[in-house]
Amino acid sequence: MTKLIHVGSELEGDSGVLRAFVPTMGSLHQGHLDLVDAARAAVGPDGEVVMSIFVNPTQFGSAADVSEYPQSLESDFAKCEASGVDVVFAPSVNDMFPEGTNSRQNISVQPGPLGSVLEGADRPGHFAGVLTVVAKLFNLTRPSVTFFGEKDYQQLMLISQMVRQLNIPVTVIGVQSRRESDGLAMSSRNVFLNPAQRLEAASISRALFAAQDVQGNVNAQLAAARAVLSGDIQTSYLVAMSGDLSRELAGADIDPDGRLLFAGVLGSTRLIDNVPSAKGKTP
Ligand code: PAJ
Repeated sequence: MTKLIHVGSELEGDSGVLRAFVPTMGSLHQGHLDLVDAARAAVGPDGEVVMSIFVNPTQFGSAADVSEYPQSLESDFAKCEASGVDVVFAPSVNDMFPEGTNSRQNISVQPGPLGSVLEGADRPGHFAGVLTVVAKLFNLTRPSVTFFGEKDYQQLMLISQMVRQLNIPVTVIGVQSRRESDGLAMSSRNVFLNPAQRLEAASISRALFAAQDVQGNVNAQLAAARAVLSGDIQTSYLVAMSGDLSRELAGADIDPDGRLLFAGVLGSTRLIDNVPSAKGKTP
């Protein structure tokens, strides 16, 4: 049976029970549920899978963005029950940030340089908001292992850095992106696309996979991607980076663990995606 709790103090840590944690903002789709499956596989039938559902205001650019984020706790809870989540932790903003989200007293986790490139360049403060809330959620849930999607590759790298550098006792595991049948990476934001935009959005993954097919030269890879991308999508970035995102790749500078990353805006919806730069790696 799945338990729904709203305050952190109800999250008692059973000693001896392995706990896996999947943080989300709800509006659950199969990509989130893949994280749950990976979490269950890691802790086994006797372990405990905890999912948090919390739309964190501190990682959004404006209050309007937060209020537009799709929310559906009832259907999310049903999906958690069906996929065997043991505990759903759905705190209120006030419980997570009793001092308020904008208090001058607030302490936050600041990302290093990786926090201000790519998504961080387009969304100032975003990753400080993500790291701070995830650190708080780790402290409330005290998991042994935690699962994040490669869909948000930069987020996955930053969480891994935070855990390493702040010595947080949890193992971070990345899970490959779940896609719709036409290749579009599943995202809670896809509901904002109208039918015509929904079709065009599939050109993003087609472009990234076309780039993967080109070997030997990063510039040629990126040119192949640009040729496939729908002209209605306003590109924020389309880059090849080293696997740890520390270095941008160009020309013949190929990293076997490299990553091709895209962000762009279609209508008013921001979409991101990424794939390994070499074929044969998990998508
Ligand atoms: P959210 O966007 O709800 O995503 C929750 C988790 O699901 C993240 O680890 C994300 O990478 C993963 N995910 C999303 N779409 C996916 C897909 N198509 N395939 C595989 N995994 C996917 O990311 C956040 O929430 C927030 O920033 C959070 C970490 C919860 C902090 O507030």
